[in-house]
Amino acid sequence: MSPSALRRPLLVRTRDDLQRELSVLRGTGGALALVPTMGSLHEGHLSLMDRARDLADLSVASVFVNPLQFGPGEDLERYPRRLERDFELAAQRGIDLVFAPDPEIMYPDGPPQVRVEPGLLGERLCGRFRPGHFQGVLAVVVKLFGLVRPDVAVFGRKDFQQTVLIRRAVHDLELGVEIEVAPLVRASDGLAMSSRNVHLTPPERREAVGIFRGLIAGQEAFRKGERSGPSIVESFSAVVSGYPAVRLQYAEIVDPETLEPEEEVSEASVLAVAAHCGDVRLIDNIVLGAEEPDPRISHSR
Ligand code: PAJ
Repeated sequence: MSPSALRRPLLVRTRDDLQRELSVLRGTGGALALVPTMGSLHEGHLSLMDRARDLADLSVASVFVNPLQFGPGEDLERYPRRLERDFELAAQRGIDLVFAPDPEIMYPDGPPQVRVEPGLLGERLCGRFRPGHFQGVLAVVVKLFGLVRPDVAVFGRKDFQQTVLIRRAVHDLELGVEIEVAPLVRASDGLAMSSRNVHLTPPERREAVGIFRGLIAGQEAFRKGERSGPSIVESFSAVVSGYPAVRLQYAEIVDPETLEPEEEVSEASVLAVAAHCGDVRLIDNIVLGAEEPDPRISHSR
């Protein structure tokens, strides 16, 4: 019988409780998967938890709104927090342990001095508009790996650049954690699920779907034989311009590993975009040669 069937899932908030429960869990044997999140869980996060359970015998989720990855003027204070509900949802998905530390528990000595430098990969795409963001992400992810020591960690394709950086950090620093990237989960109209979507007003929410429609138009152009990066971006932008509430921050077609912009695209190229809708920043992406719409498009908000 799996440990999940024997034990009620637990919520732990301190390092001591985490280590005690991890050693109990590890005593039952088997591989351990970690799903890092900032909480306010939705079907996107929960799909990662399903994947974690498929991949490993034991599963731990973390819920922590990481101050280090928010820049000045970003939405740290108003980031949605719903820990009790998150715990119930994670428990329903069979997670064994939820680690939800406060910032003073995660960073007892203040912000860590020694950081992982994301390099060029962290300066591209979102990095141009969110200086320090990916350094903050890597700081907490590496710390979580150290605290939990998972065999595998599951991340979502929604945050495409984040997955590239984390894979690269694991490779460059020999962190010894397998990185699994799970598909992007969308609402029924195609909008990528995000904890921030709750801040969209109903009219903004209706227009936000323009981002997905633009991505599909870019993919269509590719299918019809277009191979020029700028022309495909143009197909995307033409559609998005029909949704005035969506203010594009960037739209780029990049190589999936180097994140370098591509003039000449291939099946594996990624069209990655960021836009503001009202005062909410949304990101999305699509692989030009992949099957879309994703069959998982069945969830509503
Ligand atoms: P958060 O935005 O809460 O996302 C947690 C994980 O869920 C990430 O791996 C993200 O890519 C994934 N995710 C979010 N929306 C998704 C969707 N619609 N479909 C599939 N996966 C989705 O990303 C972070 O938190 C933080 O940067 C974190 C890695 C936890 C470090 O603080």
